[in-house]
Amino acid sequence: MVDKSPLFIAGGIGIAPLRPVIEHCCDNRSSLGKVALLYGCKNASEFCFKDDLVRWQQAGIACQLTVDQPEQNWAGEVGLVTQYLTAQTVANHDQFYVCGPGVMIRFVIERLELLGVKREQIVTTLERHMKCGVGVCGHCHLDEKLVCVDGPVFHGTDLPKLTTL
Ligand code: FES
Repeated sequence: MVDKSPLFIAGGIGIAPLRPVIEHCCDNRSSLGKVALLYGCKNASEFCFKDDLVRWQQAGIACQLTVDQPEQNWAGEVGLVTQYLTAQTVANHDQFYVCGPGVMIRFVIERLELLGVKREQIVTTLERHMKCGVGVCGHCHLDEKLVCVDGPVFHGTDLPKLTTL
């Protein structure tokens, strides 16, 4: 029986926290529907886990890579990840895992919502500069949340306002 159809959306080193979840999908590929990764970096040299990307693709995870600007010897996509979040792409999935720079997360979530994705279908990480790390100093606050203790992984329904990212 086919279970979930996750789409992973990563920017830069934001792929790192998603990697174990993608590996889990590889290990359980037959019980999942469509699994895809949309991964953007400033340039091609910044892509992490290049061997894993090849292996994930071979395991049936559709990996779409994009760089911010055209560059020599790059055969993949060009442009921001939000550009590749189309109605058709989103319609193929029912779970959305997002990790990357704050501004990317903000615009990805806005785009997903514009395309009809519900907050409860989204899981994302958030980053803030932290000092105490235990919810005392208030340094990592975002809206009414403390990223160090309320996150750093947030379900969409628990997300603070992202307008200051
Ligand atoms: S880092 Fe101090 S409250 Fe989060």
